[in-house]
Amino acid sequence: MNAISYHLDSRHGLTVRAQSIPVPDPNQLVIRVRAASLNRRDLMLMDGTYPLPATAGVIPLSDGVGEVIALGDNVTRAALGDRVTASYFVRWIDGPQRRAHVAEQYGANHDGMLATYAVLEQDSVVHVPAYLTDAEAATLTCAGVVAWTALTTPEPVRQGENVLVVGTGAVALFAVQHARALGARVIAITSGLAKAERLRAMGVDEVILRGENPDWDERVRGLTGGDGVEHIVDAVGMATLPKSVRSGAYNARLTLIGAMPGPALNGGDGNPFGGSYLSIRRIAVGSRAHFEAMNEAMTVHRIRPVLDRTFPLDEAVAAYRFYRQADPFGKVVISVP
Ligand SMILES: NC(=O)c1ccc[n+]([C@@H]2O[C@H](COP(=O)([O-])OP(=O)(O)OC[C@H]3O[C@@H](n4cnc5c(N)ncnc54)[C@H](OP(=O)(O)O)[C@@H]3O)[C@@H](O)[C@H]2O)c1
Repeated sequence: MNAISYHLDSRHGLTVRAQSIPVPDPNQLVIRVRAASLNRRDLMLMDGTYPLPATAGVIPLSDGVGEVIALGDNVTRAALGDRVTASYFVRWIDGPQRRAHVAEQYGANHDGMLATYAVLEQDSVVHVPAYLTDAEAATLTCAGVVAWTALTTPEPVRQGENVLVVGTGAVALFAVQHARALGARVIAITSGLAKAERLRAMGVDEVILRGENPDWDERVRGLTGGDGVEHIVDAVGMATLPKSVRSGAYNARLTLIGAMPGPALNGGDGNPFGGSYLSIRRIAVGSRAHFEAMNEAMTVHRIRPVLDRTFPLDEAVAAYRFYRQADPFGKVVISVP
């Protein structure tokens, strides 16, 4: 297949061009991409609803994997032939997140992975676990890492604690896998029986159907002896936030990952907290160090990302459409032959 790259532009959507092998700057390296994957933010970037506007003509997608085929003169963090990906934020290596760290993102204002070749800054490079296929390894950067950060910072979920996962998108599915690996009891909320079965097959301890249980927060409390869960990963957004709050124990930690808008927080008496001292925080993916720690843990537990469907690179437009319309269970992957 001839080398191609896709380019995002708010007026024309995706356009495709022939691509020649890029020449890296001294601190960059070039990978031959083998697989990439879509995240909700990639639809938001296309629609102009992501907080960071896409640079016109940028190569989209933060998530992808490939082997190193060219190195800049100063590159020491990878060698030719290594199988690598990159962290979501080009400049967030470790430590607390600062505003400057989130300013540059692959697939938004820095060329990403929807191409035959990708150019990566060496400090952002992450080696992927050897046991994963290319398609699996291409799913970790965004959804995998944010779920990991939610469950392990500022301190990890402890064995036997209750973790509620709200939603069944890719973030939620990674959260289920990481929470189980940490030894938690996992409760999940979903919309349908088929998804419920898939969640049970992944080892979720309790699945609650939100359609049949509109007051699912009461069910969650009932499943925890009335106390509520110690941890909530809300991978939906404002629509579920009040019930997520009411599902939490007195001192619970609620991590709000979902960015979906919903009705304002004005249901009931306007105070979903009641008498609890539960904390809510928002997080944005994770650093390179979080990514590397996650890879180590995934390798120990042999966690395999959940994939829904894979499209070849020349059907990337169809992959976007499928992701937008088909309500997938697991990641939508693009293979680069
Ligand atoms: N902060 C970050 O770093 C970060 C990183 C990645 C993603 N995100 C955000 O996290 C969210 C999840 O992304 P994703 O890619 O994992 O999933 P997604 O594709 O956005 O899927 C969300 C899932 O949430 C459930 N859902 C949708 N509407 C709902 C509603 N009104 N009430 C209850 N549940 C509802 C559905 O599951 P069921 O059918 O099973 O109910 C759906 O499959 C998105 O908003 C995304 O932008 C944030």
